[in-house]
Parts: sequence; structure tokens; C-alpha cells
Amino acid sequence: MIEEKPLKSWEDIGFEIEITKDQSPTLRLLESLDPAKPYGESMHHSGGASTETTYLYGSVAATVLEKIKNPHFMVVGLGLGYIEMNLAREALKQNKTVGLITSYESIPELREFFYLWLHGKQDQLHQNVAKVYDEALRHVLIGTEITPQQLKSFLRDHFANLTDFHGALNEDVQFISRYHGIFYDAFSSKTHPHLWGEDFLNRLLLQSSAETSVLTTYALKSNLKRALRAQGFTVTEREGFFTKRGSTLGTRGYPEI
Ligand SMILES: C[S@@+](CC[C@H](N)C(=O)[O-])C[C@H]1O[C@@H](n2cnc3c(N)ncnc32)[C@H](O)[C@@H]1O
Repeated sequence: MIEEKPLKSWEDIGFEIEITKDQSPTLRLLESLDPAKPYGESMHHSGGASTETTYLYGSVAATVLEKIKNPHFMVVGLGLGYIEMNLAREALKQNKTVGLITSYESIPELREFFYLWLHGKQDQLHQNVAKVYDEALRHVLIGTEITPQQLKSFLRDHFANLTDFHGALNEDVQFISRYHGIFYDAFSSKTHPHLWGEDFLNRLLLQSSAETSVLTTYALKSNLKRALRAQGFTVTEREGFFTKRGSTLGTRGYPEI
């Protein structure tokens, strides 16, 4: 008899589900990687995973799509795919196409789960896993007439194969394109220091930004601000989401954003 392997749950890959204040789900690491904190880091602010993504990334995606034809986007940290869903929503709302979405995610299961869910392979997904993506998407589409099927179909065109999701963004990364929108949503510098080093950020901007480019992130870090300025970006400190201190927007070549 062939023994069937049980399907992996969020707990099996080191996360627990957390429902944020706008009722949309996020994931929290079960273990803390920051010795100063007893809890693991959450992927989103407790004030609202979906609302935070729209505020920091969806709104910027909308502007890029208005100004650039077939823009290229880089997303650092696929996580639950909220940013990718926001990109698709904004493109569908404007009836625009996206040239390229390059998403980096270091945890293989997060790439695989999202791929399986996107391609309707529910039988290969733990019920609770599929439910979280369904819920996330439901929240992303609130207030629009776009159906979940339309949005998934848009993303399937960009992520036809599992290998279309990139692994970890490492120090030795060779970028495959130049991007008009860089959505920097990695865990914090406490959890992943190399992604927030000034030298690395300088190289990332130098080698992967298009002439007209915007970087948006939840973080407010002097390393990042210095690197952005060194690469010719204008830095705006946006209000932080909910109780956060602030967030960063760097633009270069856009008339206004
Ligand atoms: C804040 S969460 C991202 C949330 C996500 N954007 C969403 O909308 O659900 C950070 C993500 O970055 C991933 N990550 C951590 N280090 C990374 C690296 N070096 N390269 C790519 N992804 C990384 C984590 O596994 C995690 O899924």
C-alpha cells in the first residue's frame, strides 16, 4: 500500500495564523529570531494586513501603472502574496498589462503553496493553507468588481511555473531586469540583516532600478535613505501605517508620485 504523505500546514513550516484588525489574515513566525523579542515577527502590522498592503504598495502600484507602459515590478518577500494580489488588482482596475513581476521568497513552501493555490491544485494543499489565501484575496478585492478567478488568472500568466517564483534575495544576486517599482517587504533588519545593509542596498538600486523608478517599503531606515539618495532618488518619509513611526518612498524620474 502506498502511504500518503500528510499535507503541510502553516505550523509545519513554522508559522501561525493571526487575524489582523481589518479581519484579513497574516502569518507570524512561531520562533523569534530577535533575542530582544519573545514573539516571532509577523508578516504584517496587526492594524490590518490587507489595508497595510494597499497603503504601502497597492497605491504606489496604481501610480506606476498610470505613468509607465508595461512596467516591471520587483517584490522582495512573497509571503502570502498580498503585494502580488495588489499589483494584479490595480492592473485589472486600470485595464493595463504588467511587463514583469519578479518575486523573491526564501521559504520554498511559501512559493509552492502560493503556486498550488493560484493554479487551483487544492487537493495538494492543506485546507487551512488554502483558506488563508482565499481569505487574503477576498479582502484584497473588497470594493472592486473583480472576481477571484479574474485576479488569479492574471497572476497565473505571470507565474505559470513554480520556478517563476525566485528563491532568496542573497548578497550575490544577479538581477534579471530593471524595475519601475521595487516593493521592499522583507522581514526587519533584526531578522534578516544582510537585506538592509547600505552596500547591498546601493548595489540593488544601482543594478536593478530602471531610470524611472520607485521603491516603497514599510521600513524607515537611515541605511536605506542614504542608499536611495546616493542613487539619485528623492526620499519621502510617508506616515507609517497605523501605529508605525514612518515608512519610506524613494522616487527617481517620476514627475510626481
Ligand atoms: C514581511 S513578509 C512579506 C509579506 C508579503 N509581502 C505579503 O504580502 O504577504 C517577509 C517575507 O520575506 C521572506 N524573506 C526573508 N528573507 C528573504 C530573502 N533573503 N529573500 C526573499 N525573501 C525573503 C520571508 O520568508 C517572508 O515571507
